[in-house]
Amino acid sequence: MGFFPFLLLSLLALCPSFSNGDMEPKIGICYGQLGNNLPTQSKSIQLIKKLGAKRVKIYDANTKILEALKGTHLQASVMVPNEIITNISSNQTLADEWVKTNVVPFYPKTLIRYLLVGNEILSNPPNTTWFNLVPAMRKIRYSVKKFGLKKIKVGTPLAMDALESSFPPSNGTFRSDVRDEVIKPLLRFLDRTKSFFFVDVYTYFAWANQPAQINLDYALLAATNITYKDPVSGLAYTNLLDQMLDSVIFAMKRLGYPNIRLFIAETGWPNGGDIDQIGANIYNAATYNRNVVKKFTAKPPIGTPARPGVVIPTMIFALYNENQKPGPGTERHFGLLYPNGSYVYPIDLSGKTPESEYPPLPKPTNNEPYKGKIWCVVAEGANRTAVAGALSYACGQGNRTCDPIQPGGKCYKPNSLINHASYAFSSYWSQFKKSGGSCYFNGLAVQTAHDPSYGLCKFPSVTL
Ligand SMILES: *[C@@H]1O[C@H](CO)[C@@H](O)[C@H](O)[C@H]1NC(C)=O
Ligand SMILES: *[C@@H]1O[C@H](CO)[C@@H](O)[C@H](O)[C@H]1NC(C)=O
Ligand SMILES: *[C@@H]1O[C@H](CO)[C@@H](O)[C@H](O)[C@H]1NC(C)=O
Ligand SMILES: *[C@@H]1O[C@H](CO)[C@@H](O)[C@H](O)[C@H]1NC(C)=O
Ligand SMILES: *[C@@H]1O[C@H](CO)[C@@H](O)[C@H](O)[C@H]1NC(C)=O
Ligand SMILES: *[C@@H]1O[C@H](CO)[C@@H](O)[C@H](O)[C@H]1NC(C)=O
Ligand SMILES: *[C@@H]1O[C@H](CO)[C@@H](O)[C@H](O)[C@H]1NC(C)=O
Ligand SMILES: *[C@@H]1O[C@H](CO)[C@@H](O)[C@H](O)[C@H]1NC(C)=O
Repeated sequence: MGFFPFLLLSLLALCPSFSNGDMEPKIGICYGQLGNNLPTQSKSIQLIKKLGAKRVKIYDANTKILEALKGTHLQASVMVPNEIITNISSNQTLADEWVKTNVVPFYPKTLIRYLLVGNEILSNPPNTTWFNLVPAMRKIRYSVKKFGLKKIKVGTPLAMDALESSFPPSNGTFRSDVRDEVIKPLLRFLDRTKSFFFVDVYTYFAWANQPAQINLDYALLAATNITYKDPVSGLAYTNLLDQMLDSVIFAMKRLGYPNIRLFIAETGWPNGGDIDQIGANIYNAATYNRNVVKKFTAKPPIGTPARPGVVIPTMIFALYNENQKPGPGTERHFGLLYPNGSYVYPIDLSGKTPESEYPPLPKPTNNEPYKGKIWCVVAEGANRTAVAGALSYACGQGNRTCDPIQPGGKCYKPNSLINHASYAFSSYWSQFKKSGGSCYFNGLAVQTAHDPSYGLCKFPSVTL
């Protein structure tokens, strides 16, 4: 009778016996520094402790941060920058030097536990760095062993775009352009070294792309009456995060690696964004991040449907709203803290504060797509020299973008830099949005729903 062996095998395959080992269910914080108004490194470490975080991830090997972490109980994750991956991949001496300079002086007093090689390498346009990633990881790991840094695991954080399919979760599949040459050697390395698959996973982006198809509460880990059953695995899902995590587990299993542990290297929800971005608000950010804390600090651990009871170490992105992050407004609004160190909303990463103790949150106002006109104007306090440069860039894109602000034009007066630049930004954006133009201009521009037109001067707008 083939039935019993089959049942046994498939049960074993679905529920590998994970040892949670020394992995405690606890939450870390991603400490990004892309802001020109952030507290000092030592003040930041105090704030991280006050938040109740137990781990911290940095995006380089900043000496001041690693110094400030000495003697704390915070476990640290340090990053090898993307730019040097290629050189390190072919030069053991260089790997040794990097580890000797950036890690050895701080270990073991700073509890460095993870060395992440590169950041979301596979999300960048294809280049040789992709194929040098795993060779560089091997060299870094060799250095780690050589210097006797026994507690350090080597990994690399990848975004969900490493998968070409994540739905249903059982259909999780790595992208074919990297599967054989990058992912397979990566999984072999992670398996052999008992490291983790580090994943950056945002239900926010998945939901914001398909807000009509995905229930918001399901993405916020706040749904109480929604269950999705994967038709192939039969597993039942009650939130979008579990679905996404399990799709990674199934993708690894498909390539023959069913046992590599997951580590959430980033997750989070933006507390604000541009007018044309849905669902980025304090209410949703607080709800999501508090639910993440609750889920991943639970004892006994909850795990996911494919790996019930298994600890998934988790880091929330990010410590601060970072005003120098490029891209849409949400990128600058993932912080738990404002740059002045005050909380955007109350949160306790230790998981010890019960929900009922938090005061009420401001109601969300943008959980539906914005409908109406939007203009693009100069941001308050923008650097005037830089604005002048952006003005001539916008006008230089041709197509008569700036005719009305030429002498004699309807918007020439008042003849001020800010007025002209606001006109040019709105005109540029209304023409070029469809071909990928954005209302950003290196942080000099912001969207507004307030019509800046006056008299005979009409500012072009984008209509949603
Ligand atoms: C390749 O991508 C990496 C980041 O992944 C980047 O640092 C590097 O400059 C790129 N190289 C080229 C030649 O574009
Ligand atoms: C990589 O090595 C080459 C040759 O030694 C050097 O010219 C280049 O500057 C190095 N690149 C980086 C990013 O260090
Ligand atoms: C390897 O890196 C070391 C240290 O930066 C450098 O001195 C050496 O020239 C490099 N070797 C090669 C073959 O590029
Ligand atoms: C499963 O993934 C493949 C790509 O790997 C995709 O072509 C297919 O549509 C997916 N199946 C479903 C049901 O979405
Ligand atoms: C879940 O319950 C709420 C409140 O009873 C209800 O409004 C909502 O429609 C339900 N959602 C689904 C998907 O059943
Ligand atoms: C910190 O910054 C936020 C956002 O700009 C502001 O609302 C808050 O009042 C500031 N707090 C302090 C103590 O200055
Ligand atoms: C303003 O922008 C100009 C040109 O981009 C730059 O050279 C200058 O340093 C900036 N000034 C300040 C105060 O940031
Ligand atoms: C230039 O303007 C014309 C008329 O408004 C428009 O049809 C065309 O798409 C514009 N070209 C670009 C590159 O935006």
